[in-house]
Amino acid sequence: MTQDEMKQAVAAAARDYVRENLSAGGILGVGTGSTANFFIDALADIKHRLGGAVASSEATKKRLEGHGIRVLDLNDVDGMGIYVDGADEIDHGLSMVKGGGGALTREKIVAAVATTFVCICDASKRVPVMGRFPLPVEVIPMARAYVARELIALGGKPRLRENFVTDNGNVILDVHGLSITAPAELEARINQLVGVVTNGLFARRGADVLLLATPDGVQTFLR
Ligand code: 5RP
Repeated sequence: MTQDEMKQAVAAAARDYVRENLSAGGILGVGTGSTANFFIDALADIKHRLGGAVASSEATKKRLEGHGIRVLDLNDVDGMGIYVDGADEIDHGLSMVKGGGGALTREKIVAAVATTFVCICDASKRVPVMGRFPLPVEVIPMARAYVARELIALGGKPRLRENFVTDNGNVILDVHGLSITAPAELEARINQLVGVVTNGLFARRGADVLLLATPDGVQTFLR
């Protein structure tokens, strides 16, 4: 089974999860990335059941609209039953590193509103300790050098993501060399740095459900 086939399998499983668990006319949050894109394509089958979708990026908005799925502004919804998104790494407590696609801040905002966060990824993303994938940190441009120095003081090796600007007009520092043994503490510590918009650790609001694609089929894990 190729990696894309695994992503397609987990995307179909997430569509089935939404069909079974989101009430008719409910609001769905939709993440960003290649796995989320397969999910959006699968979602077209059940679009008539949705009250609308909230997108975590401009790219996701465009793809949802391409399938004729109604996209709502987050400020116009009172709540959201389910949020579905991929991850760059996920540990056994369902904390995640996200932001490989640079959409971490909007993803974190949409996830905060959702009752249930469903993470979809393939087995290569599940790790005992996160940090091998560089941790993305979205930073206001004028604070870039200051925040980079502070991240070095925390033991990381930040690198500016070249030729990349987020949907919010900011830059990303990708922090290498971390061994993330206390994800919730590190998430809070980095978010306290002045100039940081948010970082890609999703530990304080981790996933509630993990649908994990393996060569033997899709496995389900609960927080
Ligand atoms: C984007 C993200 C994605 O969820 C993450 O990068 C995983 O992407 P993919 O499904 O392409 O591996 O956080 O900001």
